[in-house]
Amino acid sequence: METLVVDHPLVAHKLTVLRDANTDSPTFRRLADELVTLLAYEATRHVRVSEVTVRTPVAPAGGVRLAHPYPLVVPILRAGLGMLDGMTRLLPTAEVGFLGMIRNESTLQAETYATRLPDDLSGRQVYVVDPMLATGGTLAAAVEFLFERGAEDVTALCLLAAPEGIAHMDRVFAGSGRPIRLVTAALDERLNEHGYIVPGLGDAGDRLYGVV
Ligand code: URA
Repeated sequence: METLVVDHPLVAHKLTVLRDANTDSPTFRRLADELVTLLAYEATRHVRVSEVTVRTPVAPAGGVRLAHPYPLVVPILRAGLGMLDGMTRLLPTAEVGFLGMIRNESTLQAETYATRLPDDLSGRQVYVVDPMLATGGTLAAAVEFLFERGAEDVTALCLLAAPEGIAHMDRVFAGSGRPIRLVTAALDERLNEHGYIVPGLGDAGDRLYGVV
C-alpha cells in the first residue's frame, strides 16, 4: 500500500490538539473536519479529471474538471462520519456510500452489518474515511468489499495509523495488483494490548460522538 504521511505544520498543530485528552467533543469534531480537508487535498492528487475549455472574459482557457463517474466517498460507520463533511467540502460532486463494519468477537474478523453502496463500482475511484487504522482488519475488509464490487482504486484517509495496520494491509493485498493508497496525518508507534493506537487519541468515535 502506498502510504503518505502528510508533513505540514498545520496538520501537526491540529493533530496535537486532537490528541489532547482535554479537548472537548465540539472542538474535536471541528478539528477533525479541518484536518480531513487538509488530508483530502493530498489524497485527491490522483483524482481523474478531463480536459475542458472555458471562456474567460478575455480569451478561451484550457483547464480540467472532475471526470465522470464522480468519485465515491465511503465513511466507515460510526467514526468515519466525522470525516465525511471535510471530504465532500473538497469533492462536492462526489457520491457518498456507507459501510457499517463491526468485529465479530468469536472469529475476530470484521463483518459488514450495513451497506448503502452502488452495486457496480466499475471505474469508480473510492475514498474510504475512517479515523484510526489500528489492526487494519476493518479497512482490509472494507477495501476487499469495494474491490469485489469493481472499484478501480481505493484511497483510505485516516487521521492516525499504526504500523501493525499498515503491515496487515500490505499482507492482505500483497501482489493483488490493485491500487491502494493511504493518506494519514501521522504514523504512531504501536498498538497496545487493547488494540488502541499509542500514543493515539483514544477512541475516535467516543471523542466525536460521546460514549453511546
Ligand atoms: N479505534 C479507535 O478509535 N482508537 C484506537 O486507538 C484504535 C482503534
